[in-house]
Amino acid sequence: MEILEPVEKESINKAAELLINSKNAVVLTGAGISTESGIPDFRGESGIWAKYKPEIYGSIQSFLNDPSKFWKMAEDIAPTLFNAEPNAGHYAIAALEKMNIVKAIITQNVDELHQKAGSIIVYEVHGNINRFSCLGCRASYNKQQLLRKMKKEKKLPPLCDFCATPLKPSVVLFGESLPNFEKYMSIDLAKKTDVMLIAGSSLSVAPVCDLPLYTVSEGRKLIIINDEPTYLDERAEIVINNKTGTILPLIVEQIKKIQANRDLNT
Ligand code: APR
Repeated sequence: MEILEPVEKESINKAAELLINSKNAVVLTGAGISTESGIPDFRGESGIWAKYKPEIYGSIQSFLNDPSKFWKMAEDIAPTLFNAEPNAGHYAIAALEKMNIVKAIITQNVDELHQKAGSIIVYEVHGNINRFSCLGCRASYNKQQLLRKMKKEKKLPPLCDFCATPLKPSVVLFGESLPNFEKYMSIDLAKKTDVMLIAGSSLSVAPVCDLPLYTVSEGRKLIIINDEPTYLDERAEIVINNKTGTILPLIVEQIKKIQANRDLNT
């Protein structure tokens, strides 16, 4: 168990107070919340973009030019993604939703770990790795169908059964627009929330990195938990530079203590 600095303990207590007194808190997560589940993030020291250049492996243009490059990267990281289990950070966020403190989760992650941890209202603004579609005829495939196809055909990229166009995971690549429903719901949530808890994101990719600006420009509060600084730290009410898997459960624990005291005094 990490030894926390007194200032961190103070921030955890303050974050718990902010959240328990909030009316409609929302959570925004990034890849950092899944690293403790074994999934590399993108820009941390051993991030995916350090090994695979995003302009070659992560853009829709490069995918259309040569889908096999993307699929080689996908084949390398897919087992980690598919076999990952939620960590204490995901479960803490699911607990905040069960306590009716967090109303929704906006996630940039495609690993579905929030849902596996029990979160219900989850907006996947960058899509989901468990669905695949054909860019030719829009046919859609789930993970099991795709894995069976790849095992049988043993070649990359996997091709559509109907029109033989290369398949693409339903994730948003650079140069693609976000899914409209998730995008506009997230903007609406960011405009209306009184507390946005941001966990495990470098806040470096638009338009998601602009969402907290809707919140803070209305004078509402940001809580940022990230092990590296972000561009919004100086505008946040609380910044804790530590592991989400450590801090989030401690915030939930503190909220439960506050609630128990309130129940005792009513
Ligand atoms: N606890 C706290 N912070 C962590 C942890 C952890 N256990 N592990 C990593 N981090 C931090 C990293 O230091 C980094 O600042 O989480 C942040 C993750 O940032 P990115 O790797 O940039 O991931 P993200 O913000 O989700 O990227 C946004 O960029 O490439 C695109 O589509 C991709 O959705 C992704 C988007």
